[in-house]
Amino acid sequence: MRIQDPRFAFIIHPIDPRADVRRRYPRLAKLLPEAWIHFLSGLWPPLKLSDIEGVTSRATGESIRGWLLACPLTPRRMRTSSLDFVYRKIIQTGRLAERLGAHIVGLGAWTASIGDAGETVARALHIPVTTGDAYTVAVAVAQLRRAAQTLGVTPWEGATVAVVGATGAIGRAAADVLADQVERVLLVGRRARSLAHVAQAFQTRPRRASVEAITDLQRLSEAHFVLSATSASRPILFPQHLRAGSVVLDVALPRDVSQRVARHRRDVLVLDGGIVRVPGPVRFHFNFGLPRGLAYACMAETMILTLERRFECYTIGRTIPPEKVYEIARLGNHHGFDMAPLMHFGRAVRAAQWEHVRQAARRNRSD
Ligand SMILES: NC(=O)c1ccc[n+]([C@@H]2O[C@H](COP(=O)([O-])OP(=O)(O)OC[C@H]3O[C@@H](n4cnc5c(N)ncnc54)[C@H](OP(=O)(O)O)[C@@H]3O)[C@@H](O)[C@H]2O)c1
Repeated sequence: MRIQDPRFAFIIHPIDPRADVRRRYPRLAKLLPEAWIHFLSGLWPPLKLSDIEGVTSRATGESIRGWLLACPLTPRRMRTSSLDFVYRKIIQTGRLAERLGAHIVGLGAWTASIGDAGETVARALHIPVTTGDAYTVAVAVAQLRRAAQTLGVTPWEGATVAVVGATGAIGRAAADVLADQVERVLLVGRRARSLAHVAQAFQTRPRRASVEAITDLQRLSEAHFVLSATSASRPILFPQHLRAGSVVLDVALPRDVSQRVARHRRDVLVLDGGIVRVPGPVRFHFNFGLPRGLAYACMAETMILTLERRFECYTIGRTIPPEKVYEIARLGNHHGFDMAPLMHFGRAVRAAQWEHVRQAARRNRSD
């Protein structure tokens, strides 16, 4: 039977503890030292942050509703607590989604990547769960492609693209898709053996790109484009790592790229990854840090599945087949989801920024 009023919930958590607490409890944020916020986040119950309304399919005209829920754990609290404790907290938040009447629940940021990437949570809940990683990959690759077109120096098919965090769910799937599009893919990570496994798994069929696994971040200087998607809790990419004229797409939340790159490397463009425009007069009634009408791609995946009434655990675990990436991209496109204008640390990229990087890329090519 067709569900008449399909609803979704999406779980987020504090990422920048002070700024995030200030949005909901401005007075408390002034009083609490940051270490307390990390500690107290573990004691706070899950909560409903807001109603989401106005997501409207461009294909069918249907509007859907949902809820934004908070799993009140900071990245540091997740990293330093037992996995059982963290799972329990995410599952409690999922139960809140069930009680509200959601038909599917999406996991945001670290609630998606912690432990087995949604599998334990999905087993415990009565409604399906999705991490949103498949759509995040689709959007991230499209963003880099758009950046390559806009720069117009290195053709996408001839580019070297480095994927930082290539053993993770997003990194691995992005590298998998990229290996069919560009000339060279560098799989970048901390563990040589795991990277070698990823590289090997790609060789089961012929690929356009040559694929190489590396652990030395200095070798990012070989890449025209970098896609970074680690779950490091602080920045890992600094000015000295990057090639003049390169574009770095930072998909990670919290960010992988240090603000120092923006300050000291005008010849490198850092872009915010995985951000989309939602179709319809969407209202989140909660400021999660993006301009009006925009959402993270992982949130959008839950919305797309709800519009499709695909109430299934669409993306969970760390192996995401490229077919899922292509399918969710097609469905998103059908309903009118689109990549947001490219942004740099939360702001639109200025023409002068593109020009600086373009010049640097040209100089680098002719050196
Ligand atoms: N923008 C969006 O819409 C969106 C959507 C979903 C997720 N995200 C963000 O994307 C990131 C990746 O998510 P995921 O689901 O792919 O995570 P994941 O499966 O847990 O993968 C994390 C990756 O990060 C690496 N890593 C962890 N700590 C590191 C460190 N200190 N230094 C270097 N590498 C490190 C891991 O390497 P090892 O294998 O060596 O541990 C692994 O390759 C997260 O920050 C998440 O919040 C963004």
